[in-house]
Amino acid sequence: MTIPNILGDTLTSHFDLIREIEIGLLDKSPSISPKFLYDPLGSHLFTAITLLPEYYPTKSEKEIFLQYKNEIIRTIGVGGTLIDLGAGNCQKAESFFNSLKPSSYLAIDFSIEYLKEAVTKLSGKYPHINVQCMGMDFSKKILIPESISENKRVFFYPGSSIGNFLTSEALHLLRQIKDQAKGGGLLFGVDLMKEESILKLAYDDPLKITAAFNLNILNSVNSLLGSDFNIFQFDHKVIINHNENRVELFIETLEQVTISWPGNSRVLKKGELIHTENSHKYTLKGISELLKDAGFLKTQIWTDSKDYFAVIYAQ
Ligand code: AVI
Repeated sequence: MTIPNILGDTLTSHFDLIREIEIGLLDKSPSISPKFLYDPLGSHLFTAITLLPEYYPTKSEKEIFLQYKNEIIRTIGVGGTLIDLGAGNCQKAESFFNSLKPSSYLAIDFSIEYLKEAVTKLSGKYPHINVQCMGMDFSKKILIPESISENKRVFFYPGSSIGNFLTSEALHLLRQIKDQAKGGGLLFGVDLMKEESILKLAYDDPLKITAAFNLNILNSVNSLLGSDFNIFQFDHKVIINHNENRVELFIETLEQVTISWPGNSRVLKKGELIHTENSHKYTLKGISELLKDAGFLKTQIWTDSKDYFAVIYAQ
């Protein structure tokens, strides 16, 4: 079996994660960072979300990748290093291996545990590709090791996760990518603004899978922080914020509750909200301006037949 090269583990310490959760919970407007949605159960629930008929982003992106694959490959050019941000099970990147023919593949994710298995399988299947992986909380800082060739770095960030950042954070992330792409580029997905009813159903589906995904953040926090959130006392809430062009996810308290954890506690009134996620929806003009601000001078955009989603290669 070929063992992939593990370049480093997530630098954020357990102590820093606990501190981050505590600060969010004790705030006047409580919040929990969306990265805590993705514990092992949360990652599986997210995969289930992508299979829901109401969750259009995955289907729209797939349609674009299928229809424009040859054009996308022609635009990017073959070879180079493919750097997968938030690689997960690495399936989306793998679907480009045969056509993009990267000489190296670097899979990056918040948790290296989930990655290790996927990249081990990949390096066995593609012995001619130098497969490497890294644990990194790239929501804070992207640091590509110097050992990664600077010859044509293609960053890959599908699924519209860029929308989960505030615009200022997305700009910061894009600037860092531009800096470290060293003349290469960024292939990424972005969700476009659309009718409220479509957004509402995609984030509050009738099977309640998104509700389970959102509420599971409380399980994730309980195991990290040692808190005593009882899921029965909370509900999933979605607000479409038209001023900010985004879908907002919250956990709503169904009754007054006191949450305790080692060294602290917080009382939440009935109806109080804990903010868990923003999912920004862009216009083509808005995302193009953001890319320009980040220093990308050339962009190529592909959209699906309903104009729900865009795939962009920015250089
Ligand atoms: C990962 N990200 C792009 C998803 C989104 O649509 O913002 C996360 C998600 N949250 C609820 N459903 C899906």
